[in-house]
Amino acid sequence: MRMYDIILKKRDGRELTDGEIKYFIEGYTSGDIPDYQAAALLMAVFFQGLNARETAGLTMAMSRSGDRADLSAIPGIKVDKHSTGGVGDKTTLVLVPLVAAAGVPVAKMSGRGLGHTGGTVDKLESIPGFRSMLELPELIDQVRRVGAVVVAQTGHLAPADKKLYALRDVTATVDSIPLIASSVMSKKIAAGADAIVLDVKAGKGAFMQRPEDAFGLARTMVEIGNQVGRRTVALVTGMDQPLGYAVGNALEVKEAIAALKGNGPADLLELCLSLGSVMLLLAGRAGNLEEGRNILAGLLESGRALDKFEEFIAAQGGDRRITENENLLPAAGIVESLPAPRPGCVQAVHAGRIGRAAMLLGAGRENKESQIDLSVGVVLNKKAGDRVQAGEPLAVLHASDARRLEAAREVVLQAYTIGEQKPEPQPLVYGMVP
Ligand code: URA
Repeated sequence: MRMYDIILKKRDGRELTDGEIKYFIEGYTSGDIPDYQAAALLMAVFFQGLNARETAGLTMAMSRSGDRADLSAIPGIKVDKHSTGGVGDKTTLVLVPLVAAAGVPVAKMSGRGLGHTGGTVDKLESIPGFRSMLELPELIDQVRRVGAVVVAQTGHLAPADKKLYALRDVTATVDSIPLIASSVMSKKIAAGADAIVLDVKAGKGAFMQRPEDAFGLARTMVEIGNQVGRRTVALVTGMDQPLGYAVGNALEVKEAIAALKGNGPADLLELCLSLGSVMLLLAGRAGNLEEGRNILAGLLESGRALDKFEEFIAAQGGDRRITENENLLPAAGIVESLPAPRPGCVQAVHAGRIGRAAMLLGAGRENKESQIDLSVGVVLNKKAGDRVQAGEPLAVLHASDARRLEAAREVVLQAYTIGEQKPEPQPLVYGMVP
């Protein structure tokens, strides 16, 4: 078999066999197939697509490219959750302790941020002492004791995805449905959970801008998961504007703690209840979504979800006192309000641009080697539908460097559209697949 022939076949729109896909993944993971040939194949896939069988074949080849976590030592149905990436998406920080407090074990492997989207692991690492690099036996032990763990995905899990994702990022081949689906599902399958809940984002801060494309991606992933015996459900959710108000690592931890205390933003709470009730349903902890929602709302109200958050943070070495004392989290040296240039009603807050501004401040990675600043970011004061007076703060920028602040200020201003009429509210949850 020759890589040249595989590229040619896909370039001409023909179907690849499972053997050819396996040859590519094994050769690329081992280093026998060079980046330039892999990049050519990715671009051919970008234009020609993959059918359902090829996408499933690629997913399975990628999930078998490294270790596969065996979570069978943890009793109960293990449910994982994955978001395709958004701005201000601190859902995992609330959802993991919340679902664990309901008695459903959660072993979650999360990513770091890249580009304008944030990563859960970076957010958690803003908590002093928090360790995100646990080996599998330690992870299993913590889930058995505490019911919840969030770790960084190790290089041993789906290494083909790690390499391919980095290559896609620099070859303009990220936003392809079969490539995103195989990337996400290969990791989820290798991570070993019995059931998977996917949060597929649609909108200006997401890979899929149009809800119909997000549904296409959701259907592809659900089909793959169910084919390999993992019960999989996806929610397609809105990402036109950031979720909640805070964007930036430590700032998002503060907002997640507020949500666990019952004082969080309404959209964050609603998304956590929507995703969490599906997790409880798949785990057999609730008979239907409404029952799941009621259980979760009760756990938030009683403070048991917050207790579970403290317990899981402390189990991973983090300082649990952050829930009482926010000053223990990193704080930026410069805090500056951004005044509205005119009065009116906010029509939209472009999530991609706010994510870009947070990245310019240093909250996200320009490339994989970038060092990030855990203290900086943007806290929105106004979101779509809010009225604003001229000079009233639209947002507050948290910065460590005056030059970066200057660049970010412009981008935040460009993210806001101010008009006259109140805009139609955008749906938070577009629908569920299946
Ligand atoms: N998230 C992933 O894990 N992979 C992608 O390709 C896109 C989002």
